[in-house]
Amino acid sequence: MATAFFFFILIATFNLSLLRVSSFEPAPLQDFCVADPTNLVAVRVNGMACKNPMFVQADDFYYGGLHIAGDTRNSYGYKVTPVTVYQIPGLNTLGLSLIRIDYALWGANPPHTHPRATEIIMVLEGTLQVGFITSDPQNRLITKVLQKGDVFVFPVGLVHFQRNLGHTNASAIAALSSQNPGLISLTNTIFGSTPPISNEILAQAFRVDNKTVNHLRRKSMHV
Ligand SMILES: *[C@@H]1O[C@H](CO)[C@@H](O)[C@H](O)[C@H]1NC(C)=O
Ligand SMILES: *[C@@H]1O[C@H](CO)[C@@H](O)[C@H](O)[C@H]1NC(C)=O
Repeated sequence: MATAFFFFILIATFNLSLLRVSSFEPAPLQDFCVADPTNLVAVRVNGMACKNPMFVQADDFYYGGLHIAGDTRNSYGYKVTPVTVYQIPGLNTLGLSLIRIDYALWGANPPHTHPRATEIIMVLEGTLQVGFITSDPQNRLITKVLQKGDVFVFPVGLVHFQRNLGHTNASAIAALSSQNPGLISLTNTIFGSTPPISNEILAQAFRVDNKTVNHLRRKSMHV
């Protein structure tokens, strides 16, 4: 009986560990699988269909211009320049991507999550306050001020942010553990969905009145 129970636990643990592994991008079964955006009829299992490897070129693994600062003239004062599978088709199935983020004075990349990636960020220029919040019920804020050359990690799925605290423009490079990390912006999802979440639900969730919900909705639509 005890032995049977032991094996049950062993099998259950093994199944859980398999689940855990398969919830991330799987290890490639070939050297590469360069995404072929023209092949729309091909079956897509997870990611994109592969180009014939005979036709693959160096440019399939290349992106130029990440030294150029993004234009931060928007109401948040930040700009993300992505280098994901959409910019480098050769990233398909490799579980990796890169972004450059530029920040105007006091510019902020507002609270958001990447559903499919852990992020590791390095400050190129300036001073950034960064942070992430742990899940319920603790909801602990883990935050730090970073200087040029400092590196920080945002664990997969957790809400995080960065803000330029310095007296100059700031910039950072971040690597993400997915070819397609995804972005869930808290303001855009909650106040900017199509069709909108009803005012009653939002008023109840934030314990505010109808007017405040309308106000926040208008704000999130004008970024
Ligand atoms: C800071 O960024 C803004 C907007 O992207 C740009 O117009 C400005 O020239 C930058 N300032 C410096 C000192 O680089
Ligand atoms: C809440 O605001 C919406 C949008 O302006 C409006 O249609 C609705 O009648 C308001 N509800 C209440 C209870 O005031």
